[in-house]
Amino acid sequence: MAKMAKPTKSYAYPLLLSALIIYMVYVVLANLFFDPQAAAFLTHKMNLKRPMNLPIWLNVMHIHVGAACLAMLTGALNFSSKILRNARKFHRVNGYLYVIFVFVVVLTSGYMAPYSTGGKINSMAFNLVSIVWFAMTITAIVQIKRKQVSKHRKWMVRSYAFCFTNLFIHLISFILHEGVGLRYESSYTFGVYGAILLNFILAELVIRYVYVKAPNVTVK
Ligand code: HEM
Repeated sequence: MAKMAKPTKSYAYPLLLSALIIYMVYVVLANLFFDPQAAAFLTHKMNLKRPMNLPIWLNVMHIHVGAACLAMLTGALNFSSKILRNARKFHRVNGYLYVIFVFVVVLTSGYMAPYSTGGKINSMAFNLVSIVWFAMTITAIVQIKRKQVSKHRKWMVRSYAFCFTNLFIHLISFILHEGVGLRYESSYTFGVYGAILLNFILAELVIRYVYVKAPNVTVK
């Protein structure tokens, strides 16, 4: 008699979730505890065109970081197929929380963007990301309201990729500044535009290769 194949348990999701939690703890510790005055980051703001109210900027930045981490967490939890299968209500409530946290990140970004390191070219990029990111998130909600599960998932993947914006900015600017020796401001600008490109590419790769078999099913 032929043996039944054992279902293979995927460790990819728990591994990714663990890596994400470590990254979130690092972001919170680095920005809210070890350097709450953002002294290291602010040394690069040498040529600001407009005066910055530092206490307000710091408060907004702390809210931004908190909301960003909560967006990362709520978003990650909603990609769990176990939660989707067994706790549909949690998925729904948690999904709306994700939208709220994305909105707070976008709102706080709107305040900080005019004072961006690197000037107007980066302010424009951040504002563009805010519009596109929020639009993609709302598109995902509209699709699930229309019961288009696969389209909802694709738009959520595209939206979620933007949670890695800050990670990619720092990764690219670190390599270009420390490795290649580029001026910090130029490295940061490449970091901002590179991160946007990477977010889009990463999302399309996940959609194409991870959700390759998922048809555009509808739910009742
Ligand atoms: C979701 C993950 C994100 C995290 C963890 C995060 C975190 C941070 C942190 C820690 C800072 C302070 C400066 C630094 O160390 O980089 C910052 C600044 C900033 N972030 Fe975010 N961020 C995220 C996403 C975004 C997104 C998607 C946008 C755009 C819509 C954005 C817009 C900004 C802006 C405009 C600044 C000020 C940059 C500057 O002054 O040069 N962030 N973010």
